[in-house]
Amino acid sequence: MIPLTLAEVATAVDGRLVDADPDARVTGPVEFDSRKVSAGTLFVAFPGEKVDGHDYAAAAVEAGAVAVLGTREVPGVPMVLVADALTAMGRLARAVVDRLPGLTVIGLTGSSGKTTTKDLIAQLTARLGATVAPAGSFNNELGHPYTAMQADRETRYLVMEKGARGVGHVRYLCEVVPPRISVVLNVGTSHIGEFGSRENIALAKGELVEALPADGMAVLNADDPLVDAMASRTAARVVRYGEAPDAEVRAEDVALDERGRASYTLVTPDGRAPVRLGLTGRHQVSNTLAAAAVARELGMPLAELATALGELGLVSTRRMDVFDRPDGVTVIDDSYNANPGSMAVALKALASLGQGRRTVAVLGYMAELGPYERDGHAEVGRLAAELGVDRLLVVGEPAAPIHEGATAVGNWGGESVLLTDQAAAVEVLRGELRPGDVVLVKGSRYRTWDVVDALRADANGESAG
Ligand SMILES: Nc1ncnc2c1ncn2[C@@H]1O[C@H](COP(=O)(O)OP(=O)(O)OP(=O)(O)O)[C@@H](O)[C@H]1O
Ligand SMILES: [Mg+2]
Repeated sequence: MIPLTLAEVATAVDGRLVDADPDARVTGPVEFDSRKVSAGTLFVAFPGEKVDGHDYAAAAVEAGAVAVLGTREVPGVPMVLVADALTAMGRLARAVVDRLPGLTVIGLTGSSGKTTTKDLIAQLTARLGATVAPAGSFNNELGHPYTAMQADRETRYLVMEKGARGVGHVRYLCEVVPPRISVVLNVGTSHIGEFGSRENIALAKGELVEALPADGMAVLNADDPLVDAMASRTAARVVRYGEAPDAEVRAEDVALDERGRASYTLVTPDGRAPVRLGLTGRHQVSNTLAAAAVARELGMPLAELATALGELGLVSTRRMDVFDRPDGVTVIDDSYNANPGSMAVALKALASLGQGRRTVAVLGYMAELGPYERDGHAEVGRLAAELGVDRLLVVGEPAAPIHEGATAVGNWGGESVLLTDQAAAVEVLRGELRPGDVVLVKGSRYRTWDVVDALRADANGESAG
């Protein structure tokens, strides 16, 4: 973070200093976890029902915090008093980025693949200059300002994932950290329970391009009609990416190898170059094109871009993370989260990686589908059967429609079973897995990853089974 005096902090957040020296300088990070406080930190105390940050205010100052930003006075503690700490964090982050004219902010949103693509973009921009991006999926009204405040005068690129659970959320995040480049990946059905319809999801995601200045750039997925239509909602220049023949940044001749990794010809206004990805899944063609459009805009020459795309790796865990066990079983750990769209890409990756091998899918419940819950699950089951997955383990009663959707497919040669929990799935896998099998594990958190961890531990001999 750039150094700010407490007076500057108070002005930025519309706060009042109490027992604090206005000239004292915040030099360290802004932290809301007292264990992370060090000399120069501004500690943010959130009121909470279980844990109240104000109870840790004195300890934070003891550990080096210059002051505490909070909503009530704590005797003997230098304070920046505000009405709402979260709003104050947003305003402070805005004050920080406004003081960094050399910073280019890249924002991205979409129903699926935000964290994955955020990591891809950050890997590319890191080749061009110092980059700050959030760890994992820290994409909300807390993660946003928290990450942005890590930028300083050395930082050239700030890559921000923008999550939304409703109309207006992305708009607010863009007020906190205004983007110069906005990337919209796709409009699917995640959080459709909260949004009500895909049109509302499109409305909410499009706020990212509405926030652009006229000299900004909107990077839109030409293969997704609801994203493509967002071109009319921005004052900025539009660059379209995808496999559509008229996309400015596009992939031609896409092919997948035996590990489900794509190669393609990257076509841009600068020319054509061959790309061979090290990442698993057909969907990475789209994600890497989005990242390529950004890097091109920032000045990366075509040849370097093609090489860099081939060197992209996984950063955040449990997203299409493929590993081989010594016994010849291949595991696709996609257990971080799931919605019908991301289930579809993961099942397709399983099918392509599993060609000529036995395929097993361990699928859990998908949260936040609201009225689409039943159909969403059934659709996933149907797709698994249609793709010819050999063995389906459906985990948990709420996911039962996946099982029903699969078994309803008449000519499916595979078999599905509905299991009570992760432990039951692990038991079945231990009994059935044979060398050469490929296993996909996916669900909406709920400890779906326990299954992956058990598969890993078995391979390492950590468990007798
Ligand atoms: N372009 C894409 N289209 C559809 N599904 C995708 C795409 N990219 C990734 N996925 C799938 O979505 C899963 C989740 O990816 P990721 O964590 O990047 O998404 P996210 O949008 O950040 O999710 P969250 O809303 O939880 O933050 C991946 O593991 C993969 O199965
Ligand atoms: Mg995410």
